[in-house]
Amino acid sequence: MLQGEFVKMILCFSGTGNSKFVADALSEKLSDKIVSINDILKKNKKREFKSEKPFIVVAPIYAWQLPQIVNEFIESASFEGSDKLYFVATMGKDTGKTDKYCKKLCKKINMTFMGFTGITMPDNYIFADAMKSKEENEERIRNSLPAIENAAELILSGEKIKRTDKSSLRGLKSGMVNKMFNQYARNDNGFVTSDKCTLCGTCVKLCPLNNIKIKKDKIEFLHNCTNCYSCIHHCPTQAIDIKGHTENNGRYVCPDYKTFVK
Ligand SMILES: Cc1cc2nc3c(=O)[nH]c(=O)nc-3n(C[C@H](O)[C@H](O)[C@H](O)COP(=O)(O)O)c2cc1C
Repeated sequence: MLQGEFVKMILCFSGTGNSKFVADALSEKLSDKIVSINDILKKNKKREFKSEKPFIVVAPIYAWQLPQIVNEFIESASFEGSDKLYFVATMGKDTGKTDKYCKKLCKKINMTFMGFTGITMPDNYIFADAMKSKEENEERIRNSLPAIENAAELILSGEKIKRTDKSSLRGLKSGMVNKMFNQYARNDNGFVTSDKCTLCGTCVKLCPLNNIKIKKDKIEFLHNCTNCYSCIHHCPTQAIDIKGHTENNGRYVCPDYKTFVK
């Protein structure tokens, strides 16, 4: 019987809390602990995981795939105990063919692919669109609960999970468009701070890649950005923008699971 460190099995990456919300919900239903990928990246901790039960990766969708940083993380990690891996992604609209890439990833690292599913949550991609109202976001989160419950039940019974979202041009979006996003768009080139910035350090503290520092009373972005948008959405004075794109698009942070479902 494996014990102690072996209980950990949900690996979660999250920028604005949607994936953390889903990980918290799964953790409650499956009685398992969450390991924060953000924290491991930030503190450059070891990537060695042991679990007697299947591992579950929970992460957002960026340009119709898991974030590249998450793919790289999984590839560089060592998994002991179970050889099974589930993927639960959170999305604003659709996941494209992320399932196919997760399957490929499992093959590469010699793990058994137990399936992929996407949970619809508020869309935090304010580069393209304005956030919806607080009420609409909360309704979306509430509507996600049965899908999370369903995924938890399947995982608990050891069955495979499946993508349920549908969209057109899935191959193109998760293939070429994703490649272009990672090559040309996923950066902090347009990131600026306005005079609303109070140098409170929230962005510095939250950035999972330590890409932000305060230098001579100014925020500096160090050009190693994964575009999780954590800094933009969490800034208490809304002082961070992607110039010309996010100024009027609102901000969003997912409510805490435990408080939300009470
Ligand atoms: C850079 C970026 C790219 C995104 N691309 C997609 C996408 O291709 N499809 C989609 O449905 N949602 C997309 N989204 C929305 C997020 O996947 C969604 O809001 C997710 O739940 C955010 O999770 P988090 O709060 O855990 O970071 C994108 C968001 C960002 C920041």
